[in-house]
Amino acid sequence: MKRTISLGTILLLVIIVLINSCSEKQVKIGLLMDDILLERWLKDKDLFIKRANEKEAQVLVEVANNDPVKQFDQAKKLLDEGIDILVIVPVDLNDAARIVQLAHQYKVRVLSYDRLVKNCNLDFYISFDNVEVGKIQAEYLAKLCPKGNFALIGGATTDNNSILLKIGQMNVLQPYVEKGDISIVYDQFVDKWHQDEGYNHMINCLKKSNNKIDAVIAANDALATGAAMALEENNMEGRVYLAGQDADLVACQRIVAGTQTITVYKPIEAIATKAADIAIAMAKKQDYENTQLTVNNGKKMVPALLLPPMLVNKETIKLTVVADGYLKENKIYQ
Ligand code: GAL
Repeated sequence: MKRTISLGTILLLVIIVLINSCSEKQVKIGLLMDDILLERWLKDKDLFIKRANEKEAQVLVEVANNDPVKQFDQAKKLLDEGIDILVIVPVDLNDAARIVQLAHQYKVRVLSYDRLVKNCNLDFYISFDNVEVGKIQAEYLAKLCPKGNFALIGGATTDNNSILLKIGQMNVLQPYVEKGDISIVYDQFVDKWHQDEGYNHMINCLKKSNNKIDAVIAANDALATGAAMALEENNMEGRVYLAGQDADLVACQRIVAGTQTITVYKPIEAIATKAADIAIAMAKKQDYENTQLTVNNGKKMVPALLLPPMLVNKETIKLTVVADGYLKENKIYQ
């Protein structure tokens, strides 16, 4: 009798385990990145995978290196491999709509990560408040330099964030311009968010303005790095206010050295972790992020979550990037 019961119990346990493993099938997330050359994107990728793995999900990653056609092919490949959810950092804000349409044909939902995909039935958008990023940059520099010549080196034309940043900057600068206190003597977007473009634009700007520049707002720290190099070549480093974004290590080192004024830090761990959680919930068709916020992508009001960015200057560097474990203090203050 004893033997029969224990065998029955074992059988029951086996059945329960089997049922569980069938219903709790491992979630497969497809993660499409643009490029991972910049510090932040490597962190985004690694932290996203870490969180997903902690929650027993598998992540298949593809990196498109600024090529929208390649990104489309990579999406198709991942969908054919049977992903349950697609997370995308779009190379191109408009072209990526094709990817969303394709995913929907496979009955896979899409989460736009950091950058919005325009004009499609996108399912969710997670980012930072990018208008606020532009506002932080412009407010800080306009306070230090309420009268003078400003140069704006905007982000990539393929990225919706570039437009949002510019809106945030102009909301602050426009009244100064109208009063005649600030002149925007250079105002260009770049093709790619890369350092060499920042350098070329800064050289161009200095030539055009006869070196009469008081403040530069670069859309990210890679562009700020290029701008800083051009300023240094013209012996102007530290004499021109310079803002960037991303809290790259070199930018923070420049802030400490006095050759960059501020950067804007966006806690990458927060967005990567949250995005992984939402992606898994979406894949399991569970309720995800109960957000009141929606963002218009030109076709629909997309449910969205926007995290707050933070100002980093000499005084707040330890309280922000260091306290958060984003950068090591001894690396910044070498
Ligand atoms: C933007 C992002 C920035 C910057 C840039 C370059 O979409 O908002 O933080 O990193 O891409 O990749």
